Formats: sequence, structure tokens, C-alpha cells
Amino acid sequence: MQVNGQAYRSIWLAADGVGVEIIDQTRLPFHFHIVRLESVEQAMTAIRDMLVRGAPLIGATAAYGLCLGLRQHATTEAVENMAAQLIACRPTAINLRWAVERMLRLLLPLPPEQRLAAAYHEAGRICAEDVATNEAIGRHGATLIAAIHRNKKEGQPVNILTHCNAGWLATVDWGTALAPVYKAVELGIPVHVWVDETRPRNQGASLTAWELVAAHIPHHLIVDNAGGHLMQHGQVDCCIVGTDRTTASGDVCNKIGTYLKALAARDNGVPFYVALPGSTVDWTVSDGVAEIPIEERGEEEVLQLQGRDEAGTVHTVAIAPVATPAVNPAFDVTPARLVTGLITERGICAASRSGLLGLYPEQGQ
Ligand code: MRU
Repeated sequence: MQVNGQAYRSIWLAADGVGVEIIDQTRLPFHFHIVRLESVEQAMTAIRDMLVRGAPLIGATAAYGLCLGLRQHATTEAVENMAAQLIACRPTAINLRWAVERMLRLLLPLPPEQRLAAAYHEAGRICAEDVATNEAIGRHGATLIAAIHRNKKEGQPVNILTHCNAGWLATVDWGTALAPVYKAVELGIPVHVWVDETRPRNQGASLTAWELVAAHIPHHLIVDNAGGHLMQHGQVDCCIVGTDRTTASGDVCNKIGTYLKALAARDNGVPFYVALPGSTVDWTVSDGVAEIPIEERGEEEVLQLQGRDEAGTVHTVAIAPVATPAVNPAFDVTPARLVTGLITERGICAASRSGLLGLYPEQGQ
């Protein structure tokens, strides 16, 4: 996507073909800052501290992290250790495990001296595939937006509510939930996006809003609790969100607060779509509420806010009494029954085992 007239992806191989460059997302929207990763430890820190975040981008970063680690150690024991440590960096997004296991399947049968070149090649493929996958998600999702638009009054935009950031910053490019928005705009369909701020880390305010400003797409930032009210007043045509892990039966795990949006959408007859690549389906789990591990993050994320003053200096301030403790579950699970449809790179399906198997029949064998 374009930033200040220049095309960027969220991660790329540096010009020297060794280091890996990322956008430090903890500094957006205030500073556009590129960070070079040179070791597997730095890749782990980038994932853990959320310089990179979003399920597909975490996977891509882990794949390149393994490449960086292989520069130091290429033995089977070392590769397996690095893989385990990378997977442990964040527990919920399944793309992390998916990418690392894909790398292991390729690397471990090779002799150690061949592993480094093969790893860089495979990490590059994971990134390239992610871009193509998300563009396809965008094409399929745009047909839904076009259908809604056909039923709107002349000149009225399609109002789409999204939660967290599932735009190009959360993937290698295009995004998942925002890909249909970008594609609809390319088709000339007028859209307007309601952006949930997404406490506590405010990915909506700091990342989704930043993306939409850069793409000149009309949007408004809303507090997390506003969505239900807007739906009651007919101001939301559909919700589209991303997901960090979707079960084989179509339960959707995504950023905390997604479930409440899905409940409000169901109560108001608003379609609730989830956009995802096939790599986000965890075919080993069925009951999302019972089986998906939910990341618990530090209480400081809830007890503090970060913002910029008029001089441009970023400050962190407390918003609760010093003695008040907080809990901070980072994700929740929306049961499949509340999901209108899953938008994937292979098409749109029902959020159910049969719906998913219709698009991914190889998983049923
Ligand atoms: O904690 P984050 O910022 O990594 O969470 C990201 C999300 O919840 C996204 O909606 C999800 O990863 C889908 S992104 C394509």
C-alpha cells in the first residue's frame, strides 16, 4: 500500500538480502519508523512487543526470524529450539504456528548447510502468497459490498464497521477485513468505515484510521461501545472483522470486543462477516470458547493511555487509581452461529464445518 506516495509492505527483505525490515507499529500513527531485524531474538521481541502484530504478519515475521536464526545455528536441535521459542511468543494467532511448522517441514529434511538458502526462499514465498491470498479475499469480499450497494439509495455509501486492525499492516499487504474495502473502492463503490478504537491498545485508532487516512477512504473513529447504538439506528450496513484463529466448526477468535459486536449485529439484523486466509483455520480445534488459548496481556495496557501532545511528544498517562488492578484478555471467541459468513481466498462460505470443508476439501481427507 502507499505511504506518502511510496509503496510499502509491512515486512520485506532488506536490500542486502540478509536483514529483514518492518514498520514499528507501536509508533504509529505518530511516527512512521522502519526497524531492521538481524537476529531471531530481535524477531521474537518484535512479535512479543507488537512492533509487528496481526495474525498473518506475525507468521511472516516468524518465518523470517527462523532465517535470521539459521545464520547463527543450522543444526536440527537449534532449529527446533528456535521454532518452539517463536511459537511461544504469542499464543492465540494460529498463523504463527502455521508459518513456523511450514518452515520446519521444509527445513528439517535438508542437510544443515542447505537450510539457510531454503529458509529465505520459503519465507519469501510465505509473504508473496499472503499478498495474493489477501487480494483474493478482497475480491470476494467486494462482491458482498457491491451487493449491499445495489440496495442503497443513489449516492449513499456502504457503511462498514470494523474492529481492531485487520488491514495491510496486519498482513504482508492488503489486509483481511480491509481488503474488501480497498477492492470496493477500486471498483468505484462508495464506502464509509466505522472504526472501533479497540481498547486497550487502540489498533483501530492508531492503525486502521492511519491506513484509511493514507488511502483517502472516508471513515469515523468510534469508541468501542458505540457500535450497538449505530446499528440500532440503521447506520451500519455490515460488519467485517479479521480473525486470529478460526476453528474447524467456524467459531471465530479475534480481538477482544469482537463478540459483543457480533451480538449487537445479530440483534439488529446486520450481517457480520469475518475475513480470513485458510492459514487462520485451526483444523485441530472445534469448540473455540473451550479450546483456544486466550492471550493475557499486561495490566498496564488497561491502566494507561498513550497519546501525543501538540508539540508532537508522545506521553503515557494513568487513567485509574494507582491501587486499581486490571485484567487484560486480548481476544474473545464469537460462536459460529453469530457469523453470517467467512470471506476466504477461495470464496465465501458459511461459518460451519461443512461450509469450510466445501472450500478446503483437502482438510476432510
Ligand atoms: O493483538 P493484535 O493486534 O495482533 O490483534 C490483531 C487482530 O486481532 C486482528 O484482527 C487479526 O489478527 C486479524 S488480522 C488480519
